[in-house]
Amino acid sequence: MLEVIDVCSSYGQAQVLHQVSVQVRPGEIVALLGRNGMGKTSLVRTIMGLGSPMLNSGSILMKGQHLDALPSHLISNAGIGYVPQGRRLFPSLTVLEHLQILENKSKRSWSIEQVFQAFPRLAERIHHRGNQLSGGERQMLAIGRSLMTGPEILLMDEPTEGLAPVTVELVESILEKLREQGLGILLVEQNLYSAMAVANRVYIIETGQIVWEGLPDQLLSDQDLMQRYLGIH
Ligand SMILES: Nc1ncnc2c1ncn2[C@@H]1O[C@H](COP(=O)(O)OP(=O)(O)O)[C@@H](O)[C@H]1O
Ligand SMILES: [Mg+2]
Repeated sequence: MLEVIDVCSSYGQAQVLHQVSVQVRPGEIVALLGRNGMGKTSLVRTIMGLGSPMLNSGSILMKGQHLDALPSHLISNAGIGYVPQGRRLFPSLTVLEHLQILENKSKRSWSIEQVFQAFPRLAERIHHRGNQLSGGERQMLAIGRSLMTGPEILLMDEPTEGLAPVTVELVESILEKLREQGLGILLVEQNLYSAMAVANRVYIIETGQIVWEGLPDQLLSDQDLMQRYLGIH
């Protein structure tokens, strides 16, 4: 289990997260919702130990072990995978090359063959370069890359951003399959209905604070809540 406890972090002097506490257990999808600029990306970057924003106080535990003082690669080795916002790939590297540059670091890691089995579309595009892939193919490659680091908990920052509806459904079904395999997923989303289609639990973040925690049905039946924090009428 990933436990984030009372975490504060800041960009320079500007505090961005205020006593944030979040848990993700194996085999569940936890949605992190909130309007633009509220601190979603800052939270996943803080968990990954990327240094910006900088963790000031609080604890981040994986299976009871402290991650909060570790460099990013050791956090990844501890079983936390990360799919950054914007599906950053190398424009001139092929699909295969993107996967080959990741070593298999642990026995949990997926092989290139397993990635191609899970995403047959990528196997068909094996020699295409990053800049020749569609949005959905790029997202599959970004997810496939993260699985090669052998995560038990996956942090996904807006995986459906900018995707066509049919591709959003494909990503949702991928997330559900990963959950069936026992992965825990922290799913950052702007797309409320996509997140609610797959999430087991929900957190809402507002200016760097968790302001609500509950179940998808509770959120969807509370117009006030959706309007106040998500701007949905
Ligand atoms: N590199 C940065 N330096 C300074 N402030 C930043 C930086 N990145 C984001 N911020 C600020 O932190 C706040 C939260 O941003 P972010 O975590 O990206 O929000 P979200 O992912 O929810 O849209 C915003 O006010 C944003 O302007
Ligand atoms: Mg963001």
